[in-house]
Amino acid sequence: MTFTIRALQEKDQWEWRALWVQYNAFYGRVGETALPEEVVQTTWQRLLSPEEVMFGVVGETQLGKLVGLLHYVFHRNFIQVADTCYVQDVFTLPECRGQGVARGLFSSVERACSAHGVTDLYWHTHSRNAAARALYEQIGTDTNFGVYRRTLT
Ligand SMILES: CC(C)(COP(=O)(O)OP(=O)(O)OC[C@H]1O[C@@H](n2cnc3c(N)ncnc32)[C@H](O)[C@@H]1OP(=O)(O)O)[C@@H](O)C(=O)NCCC(=O)NCCS
Repeated sequence: MTFTIRALQEKDQWEWRALWVQYNAFYGRVGETALPEEVVQTTWQRLLSPEEVMFGVVGETQLGKLVGLLHYVFHRNFIQVADTCYVQDVFTLPECRGQGVARGLFSSVERACSAHGVTDLYWHTHSRNAAARALYEQIGTDTNFGVYRRTLT
């Protein structure tokens, strides 16, 4: 499979949605727990808005089919002047895995960070996500920091 990596564009909405639905299903957000339409719409609009600091990159085959996505956001950092980049979502279609799409998506974000004056990126994954960790061990460093969460009702 030959593919290129590029920034998300307006014309991608429906294919992006299809990838996004599958990614969310991977994390159990499916059926009754699927993201509400308002969230999907808002995320899509933010990804495309020049006023926002949320971005998406996609892998696209020669035939124009989207096969992977990565979302990232720039945010302030209390211990440095420059922003930091958080990579929140990475997904490759199951039938297109193992061909370098996710690696290419990360390389593209690195270039975007450089253009934005950002020199540090971070991301999370589940400790038992072997496929993701196999890639992440190559392109990043395990910080050994756990993530705590508290959901307010
Ligand atoms: C994790 C995921 C994004 C990897 O996407 P991918 O496009 O298949 O990854 P790549 O082809 O770029 O893989 C890059 C490297 O990671 C490693 N890797 C990726 N998948 C692997 C697997 N299933 N088993 C072992 N190693 C794997 C390999 O070392 C590979 O390099 P190589 O092909 O040169 O050996 C994909 O499996 C996926 O979408 N999983 C479901 C969602 C998810 O887990 N997202 C990430 C957590 S947020």
